[in-house]
Amino acid sequence: AGQPKLIVAADAEALARAAAERVMARIEANPSRIAICLTGGSSPKTLYQLLGSDSWCGRIPWERVHWFIGDERFVPASDPLNNMAVARASFLDRNAPSSHIHPIPTAAESPEASAETYARELQAFYGSESLDPARPLFDMVLMGAGPDGHTASLFPGYPAIDETTRWVVGVPKANVAPFVPRVSLTLPALASCHEMLFEIAGHDKQPILTRLLNGETLPALRARSNGETVWLVDQAALPEGIRGGR
Ligand code: 6PG
Repeated sequence: AGQPKLIVAADAEALARAAAERVMARIEANPSRIAICLTGGSSPKTLYQLLGSDSWCGRIPWERVHWFIGDERFVPASDPLNNMAVARASFLDRNAPSSHIHPIPTAAESPEASAETYARELQAFYGSESLDPARPLFDMVLMGAGPDGHTASLFPGYPAIDETTRWVVGVPKANVAPFVPRVSLTLPALASCHEMLFEIAGHDKQPILTRLLNGETLPALRARSNGETVWLVDQAALPEGIRGGR
């Protein structure tokens, strides 16, 4: 896995446009079935709105694209905290065939049971229970970085971050709000992609981006694509020393 490539956008709006362009480029690079792994949190909301807007949604070959989610809060699909619900409401429900939307099922009896079901769904889609480095699971994986350096629902110091075999795990307790159990894809599953794209924007992200740029081995730094890893950041999130300098 190569070093992440840092791309700086002027502000959150420009960052969302750059992210949308990269998603489109990955879609256009693949003439057959496409798999995109979405993420939760507040960071991707502008991107999702953009992809659902008139100028963008007409460019997406909806009948060829499948939409997954990298982690989920263990709350009902109708709960506003549900990550896939946010993506559905902002752009998927109006455009994607429903059989192409692949939510993590949270009606399961436990996060572990939900993780098992989702792993089987991913494996059925992929056509194998083992990941072949020559044939990535996803075209694009979207990611965010939390204030403690977590990504997906892989929190620092939790066993889930060191998982090497399973594709999806239950996380009984979150390290940051919302304090609900989570279900998360693991590093090997997330790494199986042509491109992993982090969106890191806003002044609130400055402390964690500084730690990541300093090389602290937090989950968001350990998450790397077997292909290309891109950190899309805005000026406001950059450490003072390098602000405006790139
Ligand atoms: C989640 C996300 C999580 C997110 C980071 C950043 O379920 O919360 O998938 O990994 O990307 O926590 O969140 P913000 O975008 O809200 O800062």
